Amino acid sequence: MDRRGFLECTAGLSAAASLPAWAANAMPKEYGRALLVNERGDPLRAAELKPQLNYVFHYPFEATPVFLLDLGRPVAGHALVTQDRQTYNWPGGVGRNRSIVAFSAICAHQLVYPTREVSFISFRKTRAQRGVQDGLIHCCAEHSQYDPAKGAQVLSGPAKQPLCAVLLAHDAKADTLTAYGTLGGELFDEFFRKYEMKLSLDVGAKAKNAVKGQSVVRELDKFCRNSIQC
Ligand code: FES
Repeated sequence: MDRRGFLECTAGLSAAASLPAWAANAMPKEYGRALLVNERGDPLRAAELKPQLNYVFHYPFEATPVFLLDLGRPVAGHALVTQDRQTYNWPGGVGRNRSIVAFSAICAHQLVYPTREVSFISFRKTRAQRGVQDGLIHCCAEHSQYDPAKGAQVLSGPAKQPLCAVLLAHDAKADTLTAYGTLGGELFDEFFRKYEMKLSLDVGAKAKNAVKGQSVVRELDKFCRNSIQC
């Protein structure tokens, strides 16, 4: 990552609230860098993203989905806590408007995730049926709701921690996005244990392979046949 990209990724750290004294910091976990590309295989320009629309790519593993969102407004960093009381400072949005965010699309409650057939979890531009406000990521399984403008902090429902953040670097000159790591409560081990059989059928032997080089971004409604709106 160049210096500018690093600064952009980390600038939000100072904006987040200070951490409680009892906490041990959850550190960013680096994975291989993956340039986000469109369905034609060309580098995705951040400006191509439609505001407040669900996009999906897979990272850091071939079978682990991630929501990519342009929230349409600048998003500052935010201090968060995982289920095991690890604190971390989510750095906020990236891109020219600091409005682009990415989170693991695996619900932190019971690991519901978007598949090619169906998705019970997605960003809602407008109020969900049981919503407390617009602009949340809502899981229809048991109605956990996450605020993507605050690092996917849990606002309601049974989830015990935020969605794991996926860290993005924005190349300001090329206007491209590269995923390079995660921050927060990862649930990948539990995910692979729970869905081992399904993933072997849906994704095959490469399900646990690390994503390398690039990852394809698709609109959720094109990736998934039935996006459930509860
Ligand atoms: S799996 Fe998402 S709320 Fe239960």
